[in-house]
Amino acid sequence: MKVFGICASPRNNTTEYVLKNALSKLNEHNFETEIFTCSGKDIKPCMHCDYCLENKKCIIDDDMKHVYEGLQNSDGIILATPIQSGGISSNLSAIMDRTRALEAIDYNLLRGKIGMSIAVGGDRTGGQDFAHLKNITYFMIHGIIPVSGGPFGSNLGASFWSNDSLDDIKNDTYGMESLDRTLTEFENFLNKYI
Ligand SMILES: Cc1cc2nc3c(=O)[nH]c(=O)nc-3n(C[C@H](O)[C@H](O)[C@H](O)COP(=O)(O)O)c2cc1C
Repeated sequence: MKVFGICASPRNNTTEYVLKNALSKLNEHNFETEIFTCSGKDIKPCMHCDYCLENKKCIIDDDMKHVYEGLQNSDGIILATPIQSGGISSNLSAIMDRTRALEAIDYNLLRGKIGMSIAVGGDRTGGQDFAHLKNITYFMIHGIIPVSGGPFGSNLGASFWSNDSLDDIKNDTYGMESLDRTLTEFENFLNKYI
């Protein structure tokens, strides 16, 4: 089974650290994984030109083509976002909007896959839950089954407090527990429903 993880930070730092940790734990449990990181990539915003509705593909030729492939070729999807302005990053917002081009091919293309959310904020309560809710909404729009890690800090997914520092996020044991709980349920859902 294959899991596609998107790191929606514009740089390789705390969110990527957490996502790589999640993917390596999945590798230990024999899941195949692929990471796409937005750092250094060109992901333009949707122009609402409606080209995709007619032509079944996006008119923009940029790095989103790797995201389209990854989303389609996976059984599980992890959206990992840094918190920006109290919610998801602008990179992730562009990716979400441009998934419309996959819907244009087939409304059911992503249906039945399993999804989980990782949110990394500089502040302890900087908008992680709002980011999770946005990710869960995206999952639901596309028929992807959203997974929770359950109570005690992972109601909506894995939430981290980075304090804007790679050293500090490595010490966020509460965040890591929320990741482990969410991963356990993510694996359970993949094994049960895929
Ligand atoms: C433009 C911008 C807006 C941000 N807004 C928030 C915010 O609203 N809440 C918060 O907790 N952290 C905020 N942060 C801090 C980042 O979420 C935090 O530093 C995070 O660890 C960055 O992830 P990265 O290291 O993967 O880039 C913001 C950072 C940037 C650059």
